[in-house]
Amino acid sequence: MKNREIDAAWAYHNGTKHSYQRIRANPHYLDFDNQPLPFKIYAELELRALPAHLSSSGMPSLAAISAADARRDRQVTPTRQTLAEILFLSAGVTRRRKYPGGEILFRAAACTGALYHIDLYLVCADLQDLPAGVYHFSPHDFALRCLRQGDFRGVLTRASGQEPSVLDAPAILLCASTFWRNAWKYQARAYRHCYWDNGTILANLLAAAAARALPAKVVIGFVDAAIGALLGLDSKREAALSLVSLGCGAARPVLASVPLEPLVLPTEPLSKTEVDYPAIRAMHEASSLESEDEVVQWRSANDIGGLAQDDRSSSGGRLFPLQAPRDDDAPSETIEDVIVRRGSTRQFARESIAFGQLSIMLGRATRGISADFLTAGDSLNQLYLIVHAVDDLQPGAYIYRRDLHALELLKEGEFRREAGDLGLGQDIPADCSVNVYFLADLHRALDRFGNRGYRAALLEASIMGGKLYLAAYAQGLGASGLTFFDDDVTEFFSPHAAGKSVMFLIALGKSVKRKSQL
Ligand SMILES: Cc1cc2nc3c(=O)[nH]c(=O)nc-3n(C[C@H](O)[C@H](O)[C@H](O)COP(=O)(O)O)c2cc1C
Repeated sequence: MKNREIDAAWAYHNGTKHSYQRIRANPHYLDFDNQPLPFKIYAELELRALPAHLSSSGMPSLAAISAADARRDRQVTPTRQTLAEILFLSAGVTRRRKYPGGEILFRAAACTGALYHIDLYLVCADLQDLPAGVYHFSPHDFALRCLRQGDFRGVLTRASGQEPSVLDAPAILLCASTFWRNAWKYQARAYRHCYWDNGTILANLLAAAAARALPAKVVIGFVDAAIGALLGLDSKREAALSLVSLGCGAARPVLASVPLEPLVLPTEPLSKTEVDYPAIRAMHEASSLESEDEVVQWRSANDIGGLAQDDRSSSGGRLFPLQAPRDDDAPSETIEDVIVRRGSTRQFARESIAFGQLSIMLGRATRGISADFLTAGDSLNQLYLIVHAVDDLQPGAYIYRRDLHALELLKEGEFRREAGDLGLGQDIPADCSVNVYFLADLHRALDRFGNRGYRAALLEASIMGGKLYLAAYAQGLGASGLTFFDDDVTEFFSPHAAGKSVMFLIALGKSVKRKSQL
């Protein structure tokens, strides 16, 4: 079982760390003449347009972001309309911006470099207004394209080792990356970005589903090759990252074991040439699960629980309990409006935010995720903060004690310059009000889940990061994901963070644009 040979995850992680020296020595440049398309376009498939009119759930955004998984005690089946809304809110085109060389079609969820390398697929039973099939979602013309006709949910049921939520889901969404679309800019580090950019999509998706009372569970335990074959992915260039079961109570699919017809569906070339990054393929293969039995065994690692114990290790620093906001002070803007308005803040105003606002963001983003690699209360990541300007908090470094709903001071001080340095010398981490770093104890994650623990740790961090994005915009604040110098971040937060690895970083605060609008 390759997944248990965890040297592979360490080799990939250590080999793709950013350091000042490595970045200086890297001769890589952006070849704009060879920039890949940000869409997967099937050359010969007819489109099946999705409804143009999308309804609002009316649910306030903060409630949707932090909602627990919807009730599963009755049958819940999405319609084509509901699926269209969820697809749009997860990966649809929400803004367009022209520039001298072309136009960028921005999407609902943040994505490194706006390169949009992740596609969504739908596998469903016969729905009220959509025949059973395997579909690709095309954001550029807001349509589905049918890759296979018929009910193929049984393939997913088997591939997921009969994961209970997959077993009775009428619909399953799948997320898959085409590596080159991101590696063009980020080279081998793009494998981390697969999970970063998948997490922001999933944060939106889970909120959109919750707002429609649709049960949704993230599943990352599956036989990789089986999913790849179902979607017709090119295993050297593409990979399925996650599934989300949607709805419940559907008739169980037939678990036929007839071999799948291979899919031969030409797609438009992404660019003139493509560069292969073997480190990406090696990490993906090393973290792949090879049989249904292995998936079942892999998931049972989760039954032990106890991953959250690290949250309780105290540094002895002063505690600042989160401030509970009054319900009637909560913003009422719907999740749909917040997602459409979301962007990444390009310039922060160096102003302070209220501790109540930070409390809401932390509280809402960390209420748990329905996922097959997490049991209630468990987490693979711990949140470390550099606070520059938050009312009622001294500037300094903190950890978020989820068990106590409090911030614990690690060291006091003005760290704007240090935060800028840790974020590759960019202005954003220096100018924002607070940076939130997600750090995982990879030793523990890999020990429990094998190399796939690396995928899990990245994904959990980025889903919480995506929720922070939404919780910031819900309160009229700004946010931006960031990249970082790995070891320098760990060192900054040590001794508390010693031995941990950075999985995700997000800056939060007031944007300059926002300020001028007020
Ligand atoms: C994980 C992650 C890391 C990011 N890192 C940076 C960064 O280092 N610097 C930056 O300016 N923007 C960064 N971004 C923001 C992206 O550039 C932005 O999401 C993308 O251009 C799409 O724009 P939008 O978020 O406004 O829709 C990051 C976004 C994510 C999700």
